[in-house]
Amino acid sequence: MSADDQKRIAGEAAAALVEAGMTVGLGTGSTAAWFVKALAGRGLDIRGVPTSVATADLAVSLGMKLATLDEVKGIDLTVDGADEIGPGLTLIKGGGAALLREKLVWEASKRCVVIADAAKVVPVLGAFALPIEVVAFGHIHTQARLCDALASCDIEIAPRWRKKDGEPVRTDGGNYVYDAACREITDSAMLADALKLVTGVVEHGLFIDLADEAIIGTDSGVKRLTP
Ligand code: A5P
Repeated sequence: MSADDQKRIAGEAAAALVEAGMTVGLGTGSTAAWFVKALAGRGLDIRGVPTSVATADLAVSLGMKLATLDEVKGIDLTVDGADEIGPGLTLIKGGGAALLREKLVWEASKRCVVIADAAKVVPVLGAFALPIEVVAFGHIHTQARLCDALASCDIEIAPRWRKKDGEPVRTDGGNYVYDAACREITDSAMLADALKLVTGVVEHGLFIDLADEAIIGTDSGVKRLTP
């Protein structure tokens, strides 16, 4: 089964968790897109809270009813992809630059389900470069502070300013993204704390203690993981 088929079956299994009347957080990325399509196909009366402009556009094109995070009191269930899924369902997210809105939506949710293809499950986080969203003002100086924060966690690297086609990537909120190729993250909580202390950092892509369940597409069907 291709990685895309694995993403599709994970998205379809997650769509089956949604019940009529729910407010549902809609993740961002290619796996979340499968979920959104499968959910729209069920034709349930639900409200979606998108985590990015891209997901909002997709959901609207499929006729889904949407609300912003501030228009809802809470979210019943959020389903979203991940770049890496480590032990305890600690995640790296943000490959699609939607980490801030994703984390805000996840934190407002009663239940969060991460969906992915089998290759995303790893024994140690860090092979995928950790996305860090920073404000544009003074970002070169913020990068220097990020190096110090990473070094305090024994990670001696300089995060790279994310660009696409030679142009800086901007998040939906207008911020920049730096990617930290940590290789191995042995203490994700310590790293998360160190990064959050840097002035100019808006959010990082470590999702700790947020996922309640993972639905993984594999060659032999979907596999469910809990923390
Ligand atoms: C978006 O910013 C990310 O957090 C995505 O959820 C993550 O990059 C997974 O994307 P894919 O489902 O496309 O692999």
